[in-house]
Amino acid sequence: MTKSTKLRLLLALLIGLSSWFSPDLFAQTAQSVYLDDLDISSVQQGWASATARKNLRNKPITLGGKVYERGFCTHAPSEAVIILDGKALTFHAVVGVEDINADLAGVKPVIATIIADKKVIYTSSQLISGKSQATIDLPIKGVKLLELQIEGVGGYSHTHTSWADASITYLGAKPQMVPYPSDDKAEILTPKPGPAPRITGPKVFGVRRGSPILFRFTATGTKPIKFAVKNLPEGLFLDANTGQLTGSLGSPWNIITLTCNLEVEASNAVGTTSRNFKLVVGDKIGLTPAMGWNSWNCWAMTIDEQKVRAAADQLVNTGLADHGWSFVNIDDGWEAADRDSVTGILGTDQIKFKDMKNLADYVHNKGLKLGIYSSPGKWTCGKRLGSLGHEVLDAQTWAAWGIDYLKYDKCSFSAAIPVSPPTHYWHQFPYQVMQKALRGTKRDIIYSMCQYGEDQVWKWGHEVDGNSWRTTDDIIDTWASMRNIGFGQREAMPYTKAGHFNDMDMLVVGQVGWSDKLHPSRLTPSEQYTHISLWCLLSSPLLLGCDLTKLDDFTLGLLTNDEVLDINQDPAANPAKVIRQSAQEAIYTKTLEDGSLAVGLFNLDYDAKSIKVSVADLGLSGKYIIRDLWRQKDTGTTSKEITCRINRHGVALLSLRKQP
Ligand code: GLA
Repeated sequence: MTKSTKLRLLLALLIGLSSWFSPDLFAQTAQSVYLDDLDISSVQQGWASATARKNLRNKPITLGGKVYERGFCTHAPSEAVIILDGKALTFHAVVGVEDINADLAGVKPVIATIIADKKVIYTSSQLISGKSQATIDLPIKGVKLLELQIEGVGGYSHTHTSWADASITYLGAKPQMVPYPSDDKAEILTPKPGPAPRITGPKVFGVRRGSPILFRFTATGTKPIKFAVKNLPEGLFLDANTGQLTGSLGSPWNIITLTCNLEVEASNAVGTTSRNFKLVVGDKIGLTPAMGWNSWNCWAMTIDEQKVRAAADQLVNTGLADHGWSFVNIDDGWEAADRDSVTGILGTDQIKFKDMKNLADYVHNKGLKLGIYSSPGKWTCGKRLGSLGHEVLDAQTWAAWGIDYLKYDKCSFSAAIPVSPPTHYWHQFPYQVMQKALRGTKRDIIYSMCQYGEDQVWKWGHEVDGNSWRTTDDIIDTWASMRNIGFGQREAMPYTKAGHFNDMDMLVVGQVGWSDKLHPSRLTPSEQYTHISLWCLLSSPLLLGCDLTKLDDFTLGLLTNDEVLDINQDPAANPAKVIRQSAQEAIYTKTLEDGSLAVGLFNLDYDAKSIKVSVADLGLSGKYIIRDLWRQKDTGTTSKEITCRINRHGVALLSLRKQP
């Protein structure tokens, strides 16, 4: 071979190699990218969206007095996921709580964690606003999936945090910020209801003496379905075609609580079925958690009458109402700009809601109930007029309209009181005032307290008649937000009892968006199964926050599983118990009225895995039949242990009933 041929061959080899390798690698020149130049819209976080080069208040990023031009900011808990090709070299950032948070009373520290290919490679100490930040420099050669996480210590959310100066040096492909890559399939587990009638919904209902009853028996199966009730007390009427119960029971039971043991029957062309039902006439209402829809997580302040009517129509048209979903709740945004100058009545925003009484009639005619929203402060959280100083008048107005549910949201109330921070007295006070006002209407209005868990409301919410009380800040449709709320209830959990429930906030399945721009829930299918299972086990109110006109089959399947919903509506309303909980998995149980045990095995880990629990650890002994509640199928028996393979962030929701 001649010298020139050898040279040509070498050149060809080099050209071949250069086209085979990426040009960057061939050049072996490291590049650098600031993470705020990537797509930070994929960052999952506890509230709102991540911001680039500015903090969440649109001010310069500032940590420990130092201002940074580059970086991105998030509400903890947050997670940014970066895809690399194994050829990145280093990661650099200064992470901490924004200085601006130092002014906010009660803001808790956070911990930052960095995970490379599912292994933790960095954990910060507790980072405190204005006091401690962490400078991080890490080699990341070979890494393909980099996760930047920030958690509030003690599950506290909403802390403003920054990844200042965050950048990556790399040789190969440019890093990409993406939602967590998930291969989760939207598998519909709930079997379709059969043609035979099956009675659904709660098995117990409380009504106050003398109040008009509004309750509809529900069933699935081929329509038409006829209802009948045995032992119906005088004064009550049943519409056999709709299942609607009306009338009222007053004297002669003014002193005692009377439990009427009824038998409900549903029949259609295929057959007849019956079920026991308790009507408790006394002082208590809302004996099982409310189930229905609320306008906030989809429409927020853009709610109007058409959207409320559409939601009511859809509860019926999609069949959701036949599974017990009955409330249609208007959140903030219905209020007029001013009270009537003569009567003081707060009417509706006339552009959005023409006639609330008419709307209530429309909703009631469908066998559903209407809810409304207000604040004990001067202003609601959406800056509309609140009820401060007009509580009795407002309650009477709502009762005259035919309102069945009030969400009373603390918002600006703290500004109206003489002490800061509010004492226990001032936490209770506004809720007591409205309680008296509602009682005075003689209408059964479910009282839903929304004050974000302040002053450990779970310990006293029942004293002010709360049927439910929010235990946390607002939820959003991210794993971080749902997981933190859902698995952060250990302190509040034991206080659940019939008529008084911890409210873990509205559901974030289906199309949500807090505006008129909606998007599909960012929770993966497995996370959505976890969401519904957890809210059912913990007896939280179930309020859909999605556009019901855009329900897909997967979401409908999630919301129409009567065996799962029965866990939520169980008449015993026993608090859930934590059997085990770590960052990787959780096992919760709830003892049901019939003596069986509902068990949720939750996989909080990065990958699918098996979770095992012994019968003894569940507090049981003997032989049990295992039922998979989502699939509505018995899967075997056990006297020793249960093992389930569970998707990443997924759940196995089971019931164990003693083998006879
Ligand atoms: C607060 C509540 C939300 C919603 C809005 C309305 O943020 O927590 O659920 O009601 O107010 O402004």
